[in-house]
Amino acid sequence: MSLLWAKGGGAPDSAIQAFCAGEDVLVDRHLFTFDIDATRAHAHGLSRIGVLTADDVTSLDAALDALRADFESGAFVLDARFEDGHSAIEAELVRRAGEVGRRVHAGRSRNDQVQVALRLYGRARAKELAMATLDCASACLGRARGDADAPLVGYTHLQRAVPSTVGLWMAAFAEGFVEDAEHLALTARWLDRSPLGTAAGFGVNLPLDRQGVADELGFAALQLNPMNVQSSRGKLELGLLAAVRSSMLDVRRLAWDLSLFTMEELAFVGLPDAFTTGSSIMPNKRNPDVVELLRASAARVLGAEAEIAACLSLPSGYHRDLQGTKEPFVRAVEHARAAIALVPRLVAELTFDKERMRAAISPGTYATDRAVELVRDGAPFRDAYRQVAGELASLGARTPEDSVRARVSPGACADLRLDEIAVRADRLRAELST
Ligand code: ARG
Repeated sequence: MSLLWAKGGGAPDSAIQAFCAGEDVLVDRHLFTFDIDATRAHAHGLSRIGVLTADDVTSLDAALDALRADFESGAFVLDARFEDGHSAIEAELVRRAGEVGRRVHAGRSRNDQVQVALRLYGRARAKELAMATLDCASACLGRARGDADAPLVGYTHLQRAVPSTVGLWMAAFAEGFVEDAEHLALTARWLDRSPLGTAAGFGVNLPLDRQGVADELGFAALQLNPMNVQSSRGKLELGLLAAVRSSMLDVRRLAWDLSLFTMEELAFVGLPDAFTTGSSIMPNKRNPDVVELLRASAARVLGAEAEIAACLSLPSGYHRDLQGTKEPFVRAVEHARAAIALVPRLVAELTFDKERMRAAISPGTYATDRAVELVRDGAPFRDAYRQVAGELASLGARTPEDSVRARVSPGACADLRLDEIAVRADRLRAELST
């Protein structure tokens, strides 16, 4: 391994180098193109203050373009030949552009280099995940519209509670996913400050054009204090994972509902064939593995959050412990991307057995409707409640359709306001695409 910082004298042997790098250089593959963009912007900033010449910048730009193209085509592989992605960029710039490659690290440290790559990666993924979560919302809205009034039992404690509808159930996920997407979009904005040009955590004795570099990278502002930049590592990851967690908790809940509703005893819902698998021994089985893996996906995010938070028990300043926040962060984000991407198709292709859903609405579930009717006629609610509890058997003549048609409180079955949810989604989609 060629070490950026080798300066003669003793160095860790290969076993120790491998321990220090760990999976880090492989995880850097996810940050590599962002690091290339930031390196370019940094070089441009250096030229504006006279540390690099216009010719230097021309050859660095060309070498960075070529490196990116080779990385994307697979001609350049980022692997354990390098200590990390940052070292790889510098080594490749030297190899491709010669002496000028040795100039590019002036005024920065890998400590701010990794942070700018993480923020660029995090901002991009937050926006993509927000869009993907909006796609989940749209799929749920579509199903809510399609079967808005189809009766479905509303459960609390997994006990039949009140008659409800497919519309209410699917619109709940639609609104939830819109809120999750909002959380992600807010987080993209929260991440949108440039740490680049703070070096190892204490600034440098150069009049770096930090603002110009931040502008080139499309950051809304600067993270000012160099020590704070280092202190924010790990927190930025936790901030994004909190928003990712919102989406994944809804994915998990949806997966749970589908697990229950597809159980043979209920069989309200059928899964698309592409989302089921076979058993290696039981020829009769079609298993909901995909839904179960979606349910397990939140665990990756929650586990990553715990691992990152555990790494942050540190005093001020950079510590190599911080490297330990990178792998769980990237792993959780990439897994969430893959999971969320499957949800719209899953939702769109579910089949609903409306007869079975309707048949599960038992007379007792009308009790709350009846109590509220007595209230409308003037009874105090508690008296109505007691009275209805004593006459549950008399509720059998009611129909689910009448029950849900009368559920007029805003947002409820008879007033789902799907258009309002759609407007919120559209507004956010427009905001994210600007
Ligand atoms: N791989 C390192 C990390 O993720 C890069 C920064 C190394 N900085 C250092 N001072 N050793 O933190």
